Amino acid sequence: MIGKTIALIFEKPSTRTRCAFEVAAYDQGAHVTYLDSANSHIGERESIKDTARVLGRLYDGILYRGHRQAALEILDKHAKAPVWNGLTELWHPTQALCDLLTIRENSRKPWPEISVAYLGDGRSNVANSLRVAGVTIGMNIRIVSPSSLRADEPIIELAEKICRDTGAVVTDTDDPELGVRDADFVYTDVWVRIGEAADQWRRRVNLLRDYRVDRTLLASTRNPDVKFLHCLPALHNAETRVGAEVCAETGLNSAEVSDEVFESPTSLVFDQAENRMHTIKALLIATLTRIP
Ligand code: CP
Repeated sequence: MIGKTIALIFEKPSTRTRCAFEVAAYDQGAHVTYLDSANSHIGERESIKDTARVLGRLYDGILYRGHRQAALEILDKHAKAPVWNGLTELWHPTQALCDLLTIRENSRKPWPEISVAYLGDGRSNVANSLRVAGVTIGMNIRIVSPSSLRADEPIIELAEKICRDTGAVVTDTDDPELGVRDADFVYTDVWVRIGEAADQWRRRVNLLRDYRVDRTLLASTRNPDVKFLHCLPALHNAETRVGAEVCAETGLNSAEVSDEVFESPTSLVFDQAENRMHTIKALLIATLTRIP
């Protein structure tokens, strides 16, 4: 990794993904360049295809966080260097890597005996990646969401195909109590994602109110050792601008997770955030170095 160069393209904001990639690179002797839409030509004056052909000649690898999976695929096709997905509207695979590590660190069970219940928008990039990564490693994944927020059919079919090989099981349900029963891990994510219109909040709160992770929902697992996961950032109180606006508009004092659960010993969210870095270190080694 010493002397390797990495371009980090961020068309959307980030705290964890950017910092994890930067520290993972620096700790292993690589160098990074951060590029955003405001301070580069990407997407405005230069196409993704041309950007790929330029950056591919200068860098050993390219991270892309952007609005479109299709743009990532163009970048990958033309860069002639490894391209990592740092989040698109469809997938968030580096998040899934840290989720698997955090689950492994906090369960003594073999993978096929572990059940993870994800509550919220079942079409989200985090839900899609957890679904596919989870069944690939053999876990049982429940996606618990209203039927109007159920994953797209190709994503469901991809996971089912993997299940036939690994023996894992995916359950899609709109019943929160049933969905979390006997789960080892309960996972949620913010109800309105970056890039979605802020005026979605009222609609989403109405749709997802019953899927909020609070003490009562965790009790429905009937598992006293259940652990809580969240990819962050979380709307667990009104201390941020968005949190204050949502709480004022909806009358809730948090959205997808109660502050009580978020701050409880059940919550693994900061271990999970740290694991972004450890797993990205492994990803860089696996894709940028040759192991003899
Ligand atoms: N979980 C995650 O991707 O965080 P950031 O948006 O801060 O990168």
